[in-house]
Amino acid sequence: MNGKNREKFLFVCQACGHQSPKWLGKCPNCDGWNNFVEERVTPLSSARQASPATAPCQLRSLVLPQETRFPCRIGELDRVLGGGFVPGSLTLIGGDPGIGKSTLLLQCMDTLARAAKVLYVTAEESVQQVKLRADRLGADAEQLYLLAETSMARIVETARDWKPSFLVVDSIQTVYSHELQSAPGTVSQVRECCGRLMQLAKGEGITTCIAGHVTKDGAIAGPRLLEHMVDTVLYFEGDPSYPYRILRAVKNRFGSTNEIGVFEMAGSGLREVPNPSEIFLQERPEEAPGSIVVPSLEGSRPILVELQALVSGASFGTPQRSTIGIDHKRVSLLIAVLEKRAGLPLMGQDIFFNVAGGVRLDEPAADLGVVAALASSHLNRPAPPRTLFFGEVGLTGEVRAVARPDIRLNEAERLGFRHCFLPAGNLKNIPDAAGSLQLTGVSCIGEVLDQLFQS
Ligand code: TYD
Ligand code: MG
Repeated sequence: MNGKNREKFLFVCQACGHQSPKWLGKCPNCDGWNNFVEERVTPLSSARQASPATAPCQLRSLVLPQETRFPCRIGELDRVLGGGFVPGSLTLIGGDPGIGKSTLLLQCMDTLARAAKVLYVTAEESVQQVKLRADRLGADAEQLYLLAETSMARIVETARDWKPSFLVVDSIQTVYSHELQSAPGTVSQVRECCGRLMQLAKGEGITTCIAGHVTKDGAIAGPRLLEHMVDTVLYFEGDPSYPYRILRAVKNRFGSTNEIGVFEMAGSGLREVPNPSEIFLQERPEEAPGSIVVPSLEGSRPILVELQALVSGASFGTPQRSTIGIDHKRVSLLIAVLEKRAGLPLMGQDIFFNVAGGVRLDEPAADLGVVAALASSHLNRPAPPRTLFFGEVGLTGEVRAVARPDIRLNEAERLGFRHCFLPAGNLKNIPDAAGSLQLTGVSCIGEVLDQLFQS
């Protein structure tokens, strides 16, 4: 057989892309089980098309064109993008099926299509289905065109002929390149199709958005692979049982990755939530034991969220521990700190912990709030009204300073809070901007508990 034309088959882990010449049950790279699928490997078309060599250029003599952005007039999305879409950029929007990716894309493309030509490739739904959604959203821009197509070659051809300013491919898992034998959605297909879209975006200057489904373990199928190929990765997340959705930038070549956008899924599509704190606190029971408010920082933006703890006597031998919206291990650690450093007998208790509104917290600044919520529920004593807490708690029970206390306090003050417990270390560098808020600096958790529940 001619060695040149011989087809090569490899087994590829569908979770991380690791390749192996034989089938394996467990992936040696990501330790996932049963992820290997046989794929025919042909050289990537992107690798085959050699581009002409370019001469090196001197860095200091480079003149940058004025940065232009295409804001889509959905404020929350524009902020996450860093001010709008950058011309010729490739953006990936990931999220669970049904979270609202197609809705978001259609809404923003509708606005963009008022000024420029937009091609929306729907590879999952028929044109009629998209039209039904568009009617609900009131999307009727003149220059918004639909194409129901799954073949990558035809998508690229249409885009080249047609030269839209914006291109949407919904979703990357359902388009395929006929040069590869493997099924759509496999690692090599997803990678190849993304590569082709990248070439198209950079070559023709078409601003491109891709929708991508996230698998159950939270990674985009053909996962990490796509993340370093594209310019911007946004994750759309939220608990399907709540109407709120959070758009988070996890990678952004043209802006900060810390920003989030908050949306509400309503009957007529996604609505921006400009004041998330108010929404997350609106159903909060006042003076309920175990309920505590913390100012969490999401990017440059503080959001007040409610933490809820329920501590009750264990009914069976092993106490139950369950947490929603916050790291389980972090809460266990804080329970141990409370037991050891503050003498609260929590080890034998059932403990349930929840962050209200389907929000996910992963900031150590919430630690002091967690500690206060646990103690408040255990002692069955509510924290004083209009009080909030922030600070990182260490293993010796010390309370450590956190970043940006000033903007957390401003947000609290704006929403009518009166009193804040914060790390003593933060107290020093707060300008007197704290205004009407009464500030109590604490340096260990014992101090907080004494002041809250002493009498
Ligand atoms: P969709 O954008 O299709 O999700 P994805 O593309 O991420 O799979 O969103 C589907 C969900 O959103 C579906 O459960 C219905 C809901 N929805 C509304 O509640 N209101 C609306 O106006 C629209 C268009 C969808
Ligand atoms: Mg969709």
